[in-house]
Parts: sequence; structure tokens; C-alpha cells
Amino acid sequence: MKILIAFATGDGQTGRVAQRMADLISGAGHALVLANLMVGPQPDSGDFDFTLVAAPVRYGKHHRAALAFCTANREALFARPSAFVSVSLSAARSRPGARREVAKALSHFIKTTAWVPTRIFAVAGALLYTRYSPFLRRVMRFFARLADRETDASRDYEYTDWPSVDAFTRELLASLPLPAQKAPALSSALESALLAPAAPQRLPDAYQEAPRPPAIHS
Ligand SMILES: Cc1cc2nc3c(=O)[nH]c(=O)nc-3n(C[C@H](O)[C@H](O)[C@H](O)COP(=O)(O)O)c2cc1C
Repeated sequence: MKILIAFATGDGQTGRVAQRMADLISGAGHALVLANLMVGPQPDSGDFDFTLVAAPVRYGKHHRAALAFCTANREALFARPSAFVSVSLSAARSRPGARREVAKALSHFIKTTAWVPTRIFAVAGALLYTRYSPFLRRVMRFFARLADRETDASRDYEYTDWPSVDAFTRELLASLPLPAQKAPALSSALESALLAPAAPQRLPDAYQEAPRPPAIHS
């Protein structure tokens, strides 16, 4: 299968999640394109059998590059199986308030793009203080304090649950048709058949009619 993973990322964590999924999917033998929606030409979802979009949440909304891609590709996305991966700090917490935040961001995403993905996965991101500007570091410390998160801004904190990322990807792989047989396997099978010493032929058996299986009635 030809699979597209298209992602947007502010500080890199969604990129890491997308890369991890890409490694698992291409390792399973599928043809995979990993596209950063913030650089280079935009991919066309119509060129793929399956599209996964990944985006971080910022100020309650998913990254605008992902919103724009999903809106522009809505028809192609609806026509095939798809998945959306939402990366946020709210997904790191199990409190009802945090769950509501995740649901609110997802509902905004669906309303804005008018696309409903086949599967949705919300996963925790990271607090990457050392990458933020001094101003953003102060803002993020403020929000972290409100959310009972780490506030020591001299280091970064990763909350991503990698085993659950792997589990979601495996589940997704299990739902896809098997990848096409790779060319090298086919050519080596042909090669060994052609190079094998010719066995003496016994034609009569080959022409016997195979016994018919019993008829099955429902
Ligand atoms: C400016 C900014 C705003 C954010 N706003 C939210 C938010 O509203 N809700 C939330 O759950 N997480 C929020 N986060 C946390 C990000 O979703 C989290 O850090 C994620 O890992 C970012 O992914 P990225 O590194 O791919 O950008 C925010 C982070 C930043 C830097």
C-alpha cells in the first residue's frame, strides 16, 4: 500500500511521533512518504491509499498547516481510510478537564476542516523549555503551573507514551491490506526456478482432473 504521513510541528515532538510511526509502517513493507507540511511542496492525499495526518495543539487549536492541508485534501481524505494524530499536553493528563480540552481541540479540528478521519489518536507531547524563546518560556511555565506540570525551565520534559504510539500504529497496520510482494523476492524466486536443474517430466499426472470438492449448501 502507498501511505502518506503528513505532519506539522512547532518544536519537533509531533515530528518525532510521525517519524516513529513511519519507521514501523515502512518496516512492515509499505511504500511510505513522510511529509513535513511546513516545508517543501504540499503532498496530494489523492496519490495515496492511506493518509495519516499528525498535528500539535497550540492555544486550543491544531496547527494551521495541518488544518490547511486537511481542508484542501478533504475529498481525497474522505474517499480512503485515514487517521489523525493529535499531540498535546492535555493528552498527558487523565483528569476530566484535560480530556475535555482534547475533545474541544478535536471538535474544532473537525468543524474547521469538515473532515472526519477514520481513526483518531490523541497522544501526549512534550514541554521543551530549552527550545522556547525567553517570553514563551515564561508563558509555558505559567500554563505548566496551572496544570501541575514541571516548571523547572532549565530542562525539557517528554510525556509521550511511546508504547501507546507503537500500539496504535500496529493496530492501524493490522487494519490495512498486506503490502504488495516486493520485487526482489519475486525475481529471486524466478531466478531459482530458472536455474534449478530440469527434472524429468511425468506428463500424465499433470493432466488428470483434480477431484471435485463436495458442494456446500447454506
Ligand atoms: C505556544 C504553545 C501553546 C500550546 N498550547 C497548548 C494547548 O492549548 N493545549 C495543550 O494541550 N497543549 C498546548 N501546548 C503543548 C503542545 O501541544 C506540546 O508541547 C506538543 O508537544 C507540541 O508539539 P510540537 O513540538 O510538535 O510543536 C502548547 C505549546 C506551545 C509551545
